[in-house]
Amino acid sequence: MAILPIVEVPDPRLRQISLAVETVDDEVRKLIADMFETMYVAPGIGLAAIQVGVPRRVLVMDLQEPEEEDGEPIRDSRVFINPEILRRSDQEVPYLEGCLSVPDQYADVERPDRIRARWLDEHGKPHEEELDGLLAVCLQHEMDHLEGILFIDHLSRLKREMVLKKLAKMRKERGLRAA
Ligand code: NI
Repeated sequence: MAILPIVEVPDPRLRQISLAVETVDDEVRKLIADMFETMYVAPGIGLAAIQVGVPRRVLVMDLQEPEEEDGEPIRDSRVFINPEILRRSDQEVPYLEGCLSVPDQYADVERPDRIRARWLDEHGKPHEEELDGLLAVCLQHEMDHLEGILFIDHLSRLKREMVLKKLAKMRKERGLRAA
């Protein structure tokens, strides 16, 4: 396994549309293993392949809280290949979202609170499920990445510019500290 560099805004790769996986083979499973390792180290709860520069419709997710210092990590790893949303609830709820590609910035995003989705797992087996709560939010956020959409695109222009300004300021301060 390998920790891969995470692509961050304003890298144009984040705007690419990812392509469907035709065969779930060892190469895809290697990518998935690398994505999990990258996500756990970051740490984050979800990652799309394009965030490590690979334009394929592959997502990994683990909604567990970060592990305690000495405790065994509790894993709830989930893989979504070629995910599709079949139904969305009319009811939308706000959730405070962040993204490893927009580091350390958070904002409320409104999304349908219940979805019906289908996808393939890492063995190519199809799944179809009704999802709600954080799982539904996270899957919709990650699926946006497959279309080149970021959570900040759901904000008003003013809010989006504020987030990007804060990010630029943070990067500048970190750069100065490193110098
Ligand atoms: Ni993201």
